[in-house]
Amino acid sequence: MNWVFDLNVTVVVVITVGPTVNGWEGRGFTGLYTGPYFDTSTPTNITAQLGTHAFLPCKVKQLGNKSVSWIRKRDSHILTVDRYTFIADERFQVLHNGDTWTLQIKYVQSRDAGMYECQVTSEPKMSHFVQMEVVVPQTKILGESDLFVKSGSTVQIRCIITQSLEQPAYIFWYHDGGRVVNLFGKHQSVERVTSDTTIGILVIKSTEKRDSGNYTCAPSNLDSASVMLHVLNGEHPAAMQQGSSGSNYSMFIWQNVFLIFLLSHLFYWPLPLT
Ligand SMILES: *[C@@H]1O[C@H](CO)[C@@H](O)[C@H](O)[C@H]1NC(C)=O
Ligand SMILES: *[C@@H]1O[C@H](CO)[C@@H](O)[C@H](O)[C@H]1NC(C)=O
Ligand SMILES: *[C@@H]1O[C@H](CO)[C@@H](O)[C@H](O)[C@H]1NC(C)=O
Repeated sequence: MNWVFDLNVTVVVVITVGPTVNGWEGRGFTGLYTGPYFDTSTPTNITAQLGTHAFLPCKVKQLGNKSVSWIRKRDSHILTVDRYTFIADERFQVLHNGDTWTLQIKYVQSRDAGMYECQVTSEPKMSHFVQMEVVVPQTKILGESDLFVKSGSTVQIRCIITQSLEQPAYIFWYHDGGRVVNLFGKHQSVERVTSDTTIGILVIKSTEKRDSGNYTCAPSNLDSASVMLHVLNGEHPAAMQQGSSGSNYSMFIWQNVFLIFLLSHLFYWPLPLT
């Protein structure tokens, strides 16, 4: 749809060239355009994070007494006309500032994604299109949903938040519903690893049986993720992993330990039978 818009721009540019060549430059001549036109410098692709407020700008020069409307292309619903809202959804409103008519969509939902049209009621009508993408941040705890560790070892639970345009204001950890604090060998840290990924790390040193339970990573305003930690007093070594969740390397090592453990049992088993 953008080419329709580009066509308008091209026309505007062609007209501008004229007076400059004819020596109008520098005289502050502004009466050249006979009607409204769009300022092309505003973004046409907007990415909004689920639950945040989105702002779709539309800059119209020389609007005169014409109207500016915002239309949702999905269902051709007229959202706003000038300063008035024409949809029974309070999340939509227009913010007017100078020559800019910004469509504000509060608490963006997935279904808000799509194309929006800013239309000027000139003759013929003019349209400027803005595409909005909605990203949904994902919260995951690396590794299996059950984590087995040997008592006394250090465990590291890593919670990864992807597709978040902003770093979450905080990440809270809960152990069986109670807030985890940086005490008694527990330590939390948060790292922004890429422009859309954050990792929250919970380290529990010298794990004890009572550290077992449900650990929940709860980033501000986002979904949470949980893992069950099982601290073993050496009773099920075969099921044990090293404390660090999601590390293929440590899993590899422990698979080998398990293998050695199996082999040693194969070796010793005949003895009690004799
Ligand atoms: C806008 O997004 C679409 C698809 O999401 C892409 O094809 C297009 O190149 C983008 N345009 C700009 C100017 O980034
Ligand atoms: C806008 O203004 C022009 C002249 O300035 C007038 O002819 C026209 O009727 C007006 N349109 C509206 C919708 O008021
Ligand atoms: C862990 O706690 C969270 C939050 O209270 C809950 O949603 C989840 O179902 C629990 N997981 C298990 C395995 O009990």
